[in-house]
Amino acid sequence: MTVSRRPRVLSGMRPTGPLHLGHLVGAVHNWLRLATTHDCYFAIVDWHALTTDYADPGAIRGFVHEVALDWLAAGIDPERSTLFVQSEVKEHAELHLLLSMIVPLPWLERVPTYKEQQEQLREKDLNTYGFLGYPLLQAADILTYRPHAVPVGEDQAPHVELCREIARRFNHLYGEVFPEPATLMTPAARLPGTDGRKMSKSYGNAIFLSDDAKTVGAKVDGMLTDPQRTHRHIPGDPAVCPVFATHKIFSDPEVVAWADAGCRSAGIGCRDCKARLKESLSRTLAPIGARRAELAEDPARVDRILDDGAARAREAAGETLRLVRAGMGLGR
Ligand code: TRP
Ligand code: SF4
Repeated sequence: MTVSRRPRVLSGMRPTGPLHLGHLVGAVHNWLRLATTHDCYFAIVDWHALTTDYADPGAIRGFVHEVALDWLAAGIDPERSTLFVQSEVKEHAELHLLLSMIVPLPWLERVPTYKEQQEQLREKDLNTYGFLGYPLLQAADILTYRPHAVPVGEDQAPHVELCREIARRFNHLYGEVFPEPATLMTPAARLPGTDGRKMSKSYGNAIFLSDDAKTVGAKVDGMLTDPQRTHRHIPGDPAVCPVFATHKIFSDPEVVAWADAGCRSAGIGCRDCKARLKESLSRTLAPIGARRAELAEDPARVDRILDDGAARAREAAGETLRLVRAGMGLGR
């Protein structure tokens, strides 16, 4: 029952850990909206995880399963959208290889994330062919499906731009095969972690979709508040408080207004404020937890969903690769 005349989008996530609230508001909520109007392909990009973690790949397989569970628990409907694992659709690798013939090295060397990531992940040797090719592999992921658009966060904009340049070069050399995909920028909902920095697993400040209510409660209790508000009777400034920033994303407007006014007037204490935040988070997380528990009872179900997704993805990918091979003079 695929509805293939809807405009198509493709997006991907690296299996480097369980999903947290930052992924939910930064990507998955947007995907859920898109799935009502678009034909969506969502890939768990395990080859991309290898580009940085090749020396220590032991965790990747578990994270692939974790991400799939998180996506399904968050409400992505596998009947409507195609969920699959990148390494199970070899067409991505073939397209990566074929595109590597036409991509000038400087295009890859000047991608801003290349040098940045090498600097940031100094403990890893990222002087590899695979790491330089990271954005080319991403372009292959995208172009394999000839999508109209790619929903991504701001940090990925240079990669999608590179993808468009590659599509243009291909079309110029071999004829129109690839529509240039638009960047569908996810509106940046700034969700801080419990310590006020950007939420990230590596900072240890994340609330995971798989956290139970007790864990979430303890994390909220430990959240940073306005550091000037050292006593209950001192008014605070919600603008500098990560608890308030989280209210703005997960609480009803009345609750946000209550926290705002109560904080400024010292009418409420941080404990009251956090208690309401736990309620708001639970409204989002409880149904996710319930679906997760249901899925955990039938582990083979997730495997079936990913098998089926890969089969559907291969079908769409096969059409593109036929055009690409023909354009590039391959086959008999
Ligand atoms: N580079 C992306 C990220 O780190 C992940 C990714 C790989 C991706 N392939 C993709 C995103 C294709 C969108 C489309 O978030
Ligand atoms: Fe933050 Fe709420 Fe405390 Fe104000 S009352 S400092 S918004 S936790």
